[in-house]
Amino acid sequence: MSVRHFLTLTDLSQDELRHLIDRASELKAMHRKGEVYQPLQGRVLGMIFEKSSTRTRVSFEAGMVQLGGGAIFLSPRDTQLGRGEPIEDSARVLSQMVDAVMIRTFEHDKAVTFAKYSNVPVINALTDDYHPCQLLADMQAYQEARGSVTGKTVTWVGDGNNMCNSYINAAIQYDFKLNIACPEGFEPMQALLDKAGDRVTLYRDPAEAVEKAHLVTTDVWASMGQEEEAQARESAFAGFQVSPALMDKADPEAVFLHCLPAHRGEEVSIDMLDDPRSVVWEQAGNRLHAQKALLEFLLCSE
Ligand code: CP
Ligand code: NVA
Repeated sequence: MSVRHFLTLTDLSQDELRHLIDRASELKAMHRKGEVYQPLQGRVLGMIFEKSSTRTRVSFEAGMVQLGGGAIFLSPRDTQLGRGEPIEDSARVLSQMVDAVMIRTFEHDKAVTFAKYSNVPVINALTDDYHPCQLLADMQAYQEARGSVTGKTVTWVGDGNNMCNSYINAAIQYDFKLNIACPEGFEPMQALLDKAGDRVTLYRDPAEAVEKAHLVTTDVWASMGQEEEAQARESAFAGFQVSPALMDKADPEAVFLHCLPAHRGEEVSIDMLDDPRSVVWEQAGNRLHAQKALLEFLLCSE
């Protein structure tokens, strides 16, 4: 069978994606019981990070160790990637030495090129356009809190960024309705909106967008690589803050998610992450379990 990659949620079928979420919850329960499960003994994950990370690095590295394997952290500062060795060459070399590669980078095309030249699975651990691993943890967090997300209404408030694009893919793959509230000029990718059709509705008013929502989520106003735009973005996004008062307009059973790191006082009010409707800590912890399910799927089902 040809090698499978995970560059966006559309690389897996709907059934495979549903299985991953169920499996992530199973692996979480096993982990909490202290059960040792090591199907990846002797297997190695190469982890290329061209942007900063706390959750992604620790969850992949800890996940590989827990599954019996190991992980190697590769930063452009001290690899030849940072000195201009072509991505194609790096992919051909690394994929002879490790069993899977995880890449966090800027241009999505870079991850696509890496995957094209790799003969081991490549996982997108965030690009400027997508963050599919985070969506696995988000879908798991919602399912564990309230049951299946299928048929529910999800509201995205804020920037049409990599997370928002991934929510559009998730709406297609997990079959839910997505309301997106963003200021003019900060819309997600048009091609994705076209593909999603009437499953996705754009709003300019967050209060209108959260009406009847079962899940409300947001992300920073300036993503990694947009530091210089931060000030201009602060004015553009004024009014796009998620707060307990905004959550009051959603479904009474609504939950709040944020991929983190969060900027309190900007996209979230000071008190939002600690509101009883917030499940952000469970969501962050799920990165470990969801990615263990992904690694098991990519490395054990050949
Ligand atoms: N949510 C997320 O990907 O966090 P890190 O940037 O810390 O990995
Ligand atoms: N949109 C954010 C997500 C961080 C996990 C960024 O790209 O910086």
